[in-house]
Amino acid sequence: MRVGSVALPLAGAAVTVAANSMPSLSAGCHALAKLLGDAVFYRDSNVYKYESKNFWSSTEILSPGCVFRPQSSAQLAEGLEALVDANAEFAVRGGGHMGIKGSNSINGGVLVVMSNLTTMHLNEDKSILSVGPAYRWADVYSYLGKHDLSAAGGRLGPVGVPGLLLAGGINFYGNQVGFGCDTVVNYEIVLADGSIVQANKTSNPDLFWALKGGSSNFGLVTRFDLETIKSPKVWAGSHTVSEKYIDRFLAAAAKYASDISDPKTHIVPALVPGDSTLASVILFYDSDTVSYPDIFKPFTDIPAISSTVGFKTVAEFAAETGEMVVDGINDVFIAGTVKGTTYKDLHQGISIINTTFFNELPKLYKQIPAANISTIQLDWQPIGADWMKASEARGGNALGLDSSQVYLCYAEVVEWIGSAYDDIVAKWVEDTTHAINNATKKAGLYDAFNYMGDSAGFQSIFPGYGEENHQRLISIAQKYDPHGVFQTLMPGGFKVY
Ligand SMILES: Cc1cc2nc3c(=O)[nH]c(=O)nc-3n(C[C@H](O)[C@H](O)[C@H](O)COP(=O)(O)OP(=O)(O)OC[C@H]3O[C@@H](n4cnc5c(N)ncnc54)[C@H](O)[C@@H]3O)c2cc1C
Ligand SMILES: *[C@@H]1O[C@H](CO)[C@@H](O)[C@H](O)[C@H]1NC(C)=O
Ligand SMILES: *[C@@H]1O[C@H](CO)[C@@H](O)[C@H](O)[C@H]1NC(C)=O
Ligand SMILES: *[C@@H]1O[C@H](CO)[C@@H](O)[C@H](O)[C@H]1NC(C)=O
Ligand SMILES: *[C@@H]1O[C@H](CO)[C@@H](O)[C@H](O)[C@H]1NC(C)=O
Ligand SMILES: *[C@@H]1O[C@H](CO)[C@@H](O)[C@H](O)[C@H]1NC(C)=O
Repeated sequence: MRVGSVALPLAGAAVTVAANSMPSLSAGCHALAKLLGDAVFYRDSNVYKYESKNFWSSTEILSPGCVFRPQSSAQLAEGLEALVDANAEFAVRGGGHMGIKGSNSINGGVLVVMSNLTTMHLNEDKSILSVGPAYRWADVYSYLGKHDLSAAGGRLGPVGVPGLLLAGGINFYGNQVGFGCDTVVNYEIVLADGSIVQANKTSNPDLFWALKGGSSNFGLVTRFDLETIKSPKVWAGSHTVSEKYIDRFLAAAAKYASDISDPKTHIVPALVPGDSTLASVILFYDSDTVSYPDIFKPFTDIPAISSTVGFKTVAEFAAETGEMVVDGINDVFIAGTVKGTTYKDLHQGISIINTTFFNELPKLYKQIPAANISTIQLDWQPIGADWMKASEARGGNALGLDSSQVYLCYAEVVEWIGSAYDDIVAKWVEDTTHAINNATKKAGLYDAFNYMGDSAGFQSIFPGYGEENHQRLISIAQKYDPHGVFQTLMPGGFKVY
């Protein structure tokens, strides 16, 4: 199933919509305003002006009929009940970083924003952080930093807490703790019937599992309780080398992926085309004493044209990486995956993606002036046995990865200036991704997993989790939301059916 604000082609008899009439756009604002007037904002208010534009990519900005900004879980639950009663369409925004039109805002309907659900506290022994969906990871890291703690969250500070944890959560500590979602021990969630429940290992355990990768299909999460990680300082930074070293750089990436022998490490190798292509890797080592660990030597032995590696707090590092985020432009991410077990396979997978991507690039530059392309990037995320075993040790998630394989999840990023180019970029990324995936398929290295956090609207997610997990997600959604409220009245985002 795809993303979008378009009408939902319902699969078979999976969903029966609560009401007998078409969902309504304007009825939601009226119903909410009557009940919870203080939390509803129309176009003339500053809150509307701020909240309706507070998104990562300009392509996400739509024109909701009103903004609903609940002050508490109870108020959100009351509002949701009113929306369901009115058969009214709505969208939900956390940190606003899902760069897909219609995934987190809506034209005409109600935009629900999480900005005021601001729980943030540690339990007594500081092993668990309770955090509300209002926050960005930068907020979490600065709060935890005061206690020499960190968490398995976004690697760039501005990214939102809720969407990342609901997608999975690729993080610096993945080889130690798995995905961000694996570190969540409890969710507080508002269900379609307006009840507020806890989902954890013992209470609603099926829902607990489904929320680990199942996104917005089950309810609205109002609090995440997640493991903290003792990590006072880390050795981290970006090591950037020039074009002539690309082959050596990609070999280093494949070498690391084929033998992730040190779980304190994390890397993000990336190519950045421009007048001349740069190769830049984020190197992360969870240690406040050891620098230049041996496992990074294949990268650090390549002479850098710039390097920011050094000891710093994760809050400092996520602020440093966060500087890559430019406001007020258009952005898209696209995801794909190759898998293998040997250096040879993984290197071939990287190489095919690299070569196909660079072959397609001239087609983009032919249609858009270089001055209007702000960034292009291609990066790879290695996910190996330690990572998946850490996930399994915590009870597992819905993503369906197999720990006998190493996955290289690639992401393409295009950022551009001028909405006149939106359609050109959309077509180019779709064509390029098909070309890459067809080539990796031919080589027997393709995997259907698309990491949700990096996926574009044309991509499908849940089939890539495997048939069994996909079916299980559908039946859990039907159990907790029998009328399909989160698929029909809340059409945005990736839906299980
Ligand atoms: C610059 C950048 C860097 C990134 N870095 C990383 C990274 O390091 N690791 C990683 O894993 N991913 C990363 N991502 C991807 C990121 O995880 C996703 O974009 C994610 O959706 C962001 O969460 P959000 O809250 O900001 O998104 P939003 O767009 O607000 O939400 C995403 C989806 O979740 C729904 N949703 C939001 N809040 C709730 C809630 N409380 N209950 C139910 N549904 C909700 C929304 O309706 C929407 O469909 C990055 C993205 C960007 C743009
Ligand atoms: C709600 O969130 C907004 C935006 O972050 C903030 O400016 C405002 O102070 C918050 N209001 C309350 C009551 O928490
Ligand atoms: C799980 O939920 C139950 C019921 O709400 C609650 O009592 C318990 O504390 C929760 N467990 C965790 C780990 O939060
Ligand atoms: C990656 O692509 C570039 C540009 O086409 C090419 O020069 C380089 O040799 C490729 N490297 C690998 C390992 O595929
Ligand atoms: C291209 O970018 C410039 C700014 O760099 C901007 O002024 C211009 O409007 C953009 N072109 C289009 C067609 O949007
Ligand atoms: C292969 O390419 C075709 C057409 O370009 C596309 O429809 C198909 O989805 C591609 N396969 C993959 C795995 O992307």
